[in-house]
Amino acid sequence: MEPAGFPLFPEQASTIAGGVDHLFLFLVLVAGFFSALIFILIFVFAIKYRRRSEDQKAVQIEGSVKLEIAWSVIPLLITFVMFGWGATLYVRNSRPPANAVEVFVVGKQWMWKLQHIEGQREIDELHVPVGRPVKLTMTSEDVIHDFFVPAFRVKKDVVPGRYSTIWFQATKVGRYHLFCAQYCGAQHSAMTGWVYVMKPVDYERWLSGGGGESMETSGEKLFSRFGCVNCHVADGSGRGPSLVGVFGKPVLLETGETVMADEAYVRESILAPNAKIVKGYPAIMPTFQGQVSEEQLLQLIAYVKSLRTAERKTK
Ligand code: CUA
Repeated sequence: MEPAGFPLFPEQASTIAGGVDHLFLFLVLVAGFFSALIFILIFVFAIKYRRRSEDQKAVQIEGSVKLEIAWSVIPLLITFVMFGWGATLYVRNSRPPANAVEVFVVGKQWMWKLQHIEGQREIDELHVPVGRPVKLTMTSEDVIHDFFVPAFRVKKDVVPGRYSTIWFQATKVGRYHLFCAQYCGAQHSAMTGWVYVMKPVDYERWLSGGGGESMETSGEKLFSRFGCVNCHVADGSGRGPSLVGVFGKPVLLETGETVMADEAYVRESILAPNAKIVKGYPAIMPTFQGQVSEEQLLQLIAYVKSLRTAERKTK
């Protein structure tokens, strides 16, 4: 089955596209079958059971257990299939593989600003290698946008104040449309762009062409510029907790609760430091709300993430 040949379908250019199309086709066929069945039966019954003479009396039917079981159990089984199939695809599509290429996305009225972990920046364009998983960590600096690449069958709201992630693995070299799929103001329809899927060698060449610094290095500079380094001393002797080896691990809080040190946690710790206090440390950190941009936040997170491994050290 290859629905891509059908002109209403966008090209299939990711590993998940075929699966999404098959599920969609299944839903359309089930809905079409039952719509047809219901309309045909309406007409058949209207004709078959019509009143044939003025004095004809209707015969009451008091119900049928067999019929009721049939029309309950059959749709139940069909919806179970829909649920199981859809959930499988959803779970698969919401867990990026660990080796994914990392790209960060900030939506704003009315453009997409992207930065690769290696430092390359782009606007309304995304360059990715073919055949490798790509993970996007996305947020918005104003209103809700939605990152949509029809050929990959990936689409997710990009919401201010939080991170959403999607991932895909492109299967074909080429150029694919990128849309904002959430009405976000006067120029919403112009908030479009292109995803360029490149051969790995071309991608590496493109990536090294920019000459910018990596997000980790940018983050490291911000870490000193904002004075974070004065309290978050690497050896743990500072007024704030050391951030070495913290990312991706559980953190014990003053309340006795444990939270996972992920992107959302680091972001919250910068913008609302007193929301979660690390056990054994005083609540003295000031907020950086309004002083760091979304892009700088992502760079700081990239830096904190890089401290997870031993090769990088805080100065
Ligand atoms: Cu951004 Cu619509």
